[in-house]
Formats: sequence, structure tokens, C-alpha cells
Amino acid sequence: MNYQQVVQLHRFTKQASLRSATVLFFAAMLLVVVLPRGAVASGGVALPKQNWSFAGMFGQFDNAALKRGAQVAIQACMTCHSLKYIKFDQLRQFGYTEIEVKALAESQGRTKKDALLSGMDANAAKDAFGVVPPDLSLITKARKGYEDYTFAILTGYASANDLALATRVMADDKISDEEAKEVASALGLDMHHLDKMAEVLKRMAAGENFNRYFPGHFFAMPQPLSDGAVAYTDGTENSKIQLARDVVTFLAWAGEPTMMERKSLGVKVLLYLFVLTIMMYAVKRRIWARVH
Ligand code: HEC
Repeated sequence: MNYQQVVQLHRFTKQASLRSATVLFFAAMLLVVVLPRGAVASGGVALPKQNWSFAGMFGQFDNAALKRGAQVAIQACMTCHSLKYIKFDQLRQFGYTEIEVKALAESQGRTKKDALLSGMDANAAKDAFGVVPPDLSLITKARKGYEDYTFAILTGYASANDLALATRVMADDKISDEEAKEVASALGLDMHHLDKMAEVLKRMAAGENFNRYFPGHFFAMPQPLSDGAVAYTDGTENSKIQLARDVVTFLAWAGEPTMMERKSLGVKVLLYLFVLTIMMYAVKRRIWARVH
């Protein structure tokens, strides 16, 4: 091929390839931006979508929430659950002092170099609950629905009202259409299956843990959080919802303690590629300037 032919070929392909490359680039960017990560139905019930400070490309962890969340995890979850990939010392990453970390570790009979292991051994847990409570280090990444799911199950237990309803409906051992409607809206159950609803109410009335969002609804974990269950020292109100938000934030951190570094590196890489693209384009125009 001589120079003239190369030039012709270039002109021929230029328009088409530039156009398709641009389309591909924007399509890829769109996919990255809009691909949904939340709002997954679990056991047929849609998960309420939460706003997390750490979501998205520029999301950041809130250190105060992480500190509170670690406290909730240690005081309200570690009786049964471990976070075996996290060491007490790592809690300093979001603002605990060395002295505080030492006190937290000692409260669990550990040193700051130890992992966050549960005091309950696996056999005792199996005897008590029928299953071993899963390690929580990676739990928000391991479940469909991610943080929204973890938050939903922590706050999705039957309320005292729901339990009263279950007991009332089961007192005459059958369920009327009216009651079915009431139960369906209170518990998020499918009212087209009256037998199933009656079965659920029977188990609730017998004291099993109903959870709106846990697949199958019956959960071996007793409700772990309630209003005021953990005393905060930073003045934040300690409602059940707040405790759940904070502990889920902490669990998201535990699943990826280096997330902030990853995101800031990602943004730098994108900026670098952007600048590089502009420079390469300028170079290309200069090289081909003679031909156009
Ligand atoms: C009294 C013991 C106990 C406490 C306290 C407890 N859990 Fe659990 N947890 C369990 C058991 C048992 C299971 C397994 C349940 C099952 O599979 O039915 C479980 C399961 C879970 C799961 C997994 C759910 C799934 O989809 O498989 C998560 C998430 C969880 N717990 C979070 C927590 C958090 C967060 C806390 C603290 C706020 C906590 N748990 C406190 C006993 C406990």
C-alpha cells in the first residue's frame, strides 16, 4: 500500500469508526452509571431502597456513623456473630483512639491485635438456634440486595401489633377475607394464598421470629435491635432504625475497608484517561493535519 492508499483508507474508515467508537463509549458509560445495584426483591417482597453516604462513585463513609456502628456490632451482634476478617486495631481507621480500641477489645476479653470473634462457639450456637450464625465480615456483599437487604432484615421483624393480629386471627383458627387483607398489608404477604397465611400466623403466634424480608420469612435470629438497645456517647438518637443504619454502615466498611482508597484511585485513573484522550486526539490531529 502506498501513502495515497493509506490516506484514502484513513478517510474512508475515519467517519464510521469515530462514530461507532463514540456510541460504544457512551453506551458503556451509561451502563456503568445506570446498572441497578439495589431494589432487589427478596422472598417476593421488594426491599425499601435506602440512601447510603458511601454509595456511588464519589460516596464516602461517614466516620461518626462507622464509630457508632462498630459499637452496635460489638455490643449487639458479637454475642452470636464474628467478624473474623476485622481486627480491633483496624477500628482506628475511622477515628477510635488507641485507648478506646483497647477498652473495646478488653470488653470482649480480647487484645487489640485480635479479630472480632464471637464469644459463642459454633456448637453452642447450633444447639441454641439450629444454625450457626454466619460470619458478618462480608455479609453485605454476600446477600442479594446488599446493604439494603441487611438493613431490611434488621428492621423487618413483626411488630407487637402484628403479633397481636396473628394471635387474634388464629384464636378462631381460620382467616376471613377481611382479616386476610389486614394481614397482607401489615406483613406484606400474598393474600391469594390463605392457607399459607394461616400457616404463617400460626407460627408467629407460636413465637417463631417472623421477618418481612428474610426469604421464607422465618428466621432463626431473634430480633437483635430495639429502641435504645445501645447507648451512644455522641448524642445521636439511638432508635432501632438509627442503630440499624449505623451497624449496616459499619458492616459495609467491614466488607471493604479499603473502599475509599479504591474510589479515589478510580477517580484519578478516569481523570488521567480523560486528559490522555484529549492529548492523543491533539497529537492525532497534528499528525494528519497535512492530509485534511
Ligand atoms: C442471639 C444471637 C444473635 C444476635 C445477637 C444477632 N444475630 Fe444475626 N443471626 C443469628 C442467627 C442464629 C442467624 C442465622 C439465621 C438463619 O439462617 O435463620 C443470624 C443471621 C444473620 C444474618 C444473615 C441473614 C441471611 O440472609 O442469611 C445477618 C445479616 C445478621 N444475622 C446480622 C446481625 C446483626 C447486624 C446483628 C447485630 C445488630 C445480629 N445479627 C445479632 C443470631 C444472632
